[in-house]
Amino acid sequence: MWLYVIPLFPDQASTVAKQVDALYFFLVGVSIFFATLIFLTVLSFAIKYRRRSETEQPQPIEGSLHLELFWTIIPLGIAMIVFFWGAKIYFTIFTPPADPLEIQVVGKQWMWKIQHPQGQREINELHVPMGRPVKLTLASEDVIHSFYIPAFRIKMDAVPGRYTTTWFEATEPGEYHLFCAEYCGTSHAGMIGRVVVMEPDRYEQWLSGPAKELPGMAGERLFQQLGCVTCHRDSAGQGPSLVGLFGKPVQLKSGETVVADENYLRESILNPRAKVVTGYPPIMPTFQGQVTEEELLQLIAYIKSLEGGNGMRTE
Ligand code: CUA
Repeated sequence: MWLYVIPLFPDQASTVAKQVDALYFFLVGVSIFFATLIFLTVLSFAIKYRRRSETEQPQPIEGSLHLELFWTIIPLGIAMIVFFWGAKIYFTIFTPPADPLEIQVVGKQWMWKIQHPQGQREINELHVPMGRPVKLTLASEDVIHSFYIPAFRIKMDAVPGRYTTTWFEATEPGEYHLFCAEYCGTSHAGMIGRVVVMEPDRYEQWLSGPAKELPGMAGERLFQQLGCVTCHRDSAGQGPSLVGLFGKPVQLKSGETVVADENYLRESILNPRAKVVTGYPPIMPTFQGQVTEEELLQLIAYIKSLEGGNGMRTE
């Protein structure tokens, strides 16, 4: 295809890449069509209706309902096509499929730190299997960064103070650019890396590399070190039990109910009084400044791994 001959566009290496490009080409096509139409109309009218003599008087023109309807309904139709088409792709990009491979990404000045669920860590490199949805949870240690893989047509900000997520499914083995797409200081331009897409069996091989610690195991050690275990050991502790908590609704003192997701757990570690669980006193100290974003992700991985008695979670 001509796309590959003229390197105007990055490779199409994810399931959404072709969809995003199709919409993009449609928009470019519509723009070129109307720009040409308007240009030719201006040109031909300028010639056709030019003033031919000093005494020539123009004829007044009355409105035309048909003409008004014609140039209202057609643009509305085109705008609606673009809207629904774009919304469909937007929802695809923002809704990860069930059971993705979950990888954690922490942006900091000026590097990307990546942790795989099996414990592998990488800096400025991301190894992923082909043909499997990969969900990224992004955090930032300092300022806003933006995780951008042009070949996958995904870009998501890593924002200090909260988690963001995105996902992709790579379709072609190979190496692709990884950029930071948000100006983040002196070495922003150096905050680059590569994404390596591997055949599933090669990825398994890569995973079975040197021994490493699972994020949940690192989290468990932190859980002991920081003393979380004193209050959150089980239902008899001073704080609510964390067993089987992840993904479940939590009743708060304020009467609200929230779901115990990553952002809730993160907030409760750093700012425990923001959302106090009903029936418990607001006595938990903050751990702001004592844990890094990576350690927070490890703690959350550990809390996620604490299964409830109902066997709902299979991670
Ligand atoms: Cu990080 Cu730009």
